[in-house]
Amino acid sequence: MVASSWNATHSVGIAILDEEHRTLFELVNELTRAVHYGRGPRGVREILERIIEADVKAAAVAERAFSGVECRSFAEHRAEHAYLRGRLRAFLEILDPADPTQPLDLILFLSSWLTDHIQNDRQRFGPPAEGPVQ
Ligand SMILES: [Fe+2]
Repeated sequence: MVASSWNATHSVGIAILDEEHRTLFELVNELTRAVHYGRGPRGVREILERIIEADVKAAAVAERAFSGVECRSFAEHRAEHAYLRGRLRAFLEILDPADPTQPLDLILFLSSWLTDHIQNDRQRFGPPAEGPVQ
């Protein structure tokens, strides 16, 4: 589970990427609360759609910021986010209103993805000692 909020230890050293990850933390926590409090498949679907939408917007912002820069690290970062959106869209297609526990697997996936992705980004970009790049 994503039991914490985004904090400086999650920084990958690039402000726009940190902001996209911060938003994902918030939405995954919101999804976790929605499942915990039994908001049901409609609530889960609504939050998943918001996660996808937020990720699409963040990807567009990052794309503009990195435009014209040939960077394998950014390409890898972009591919991981595209994979995330694909998994979420696939989950939306199989979301079963009769199974209230189904989103638990999704939350585990999201938590694991966030942890791995940020770790990968920290290795790719590395937060500078003086703090995130603005
Ligand atoms: Fe990212």
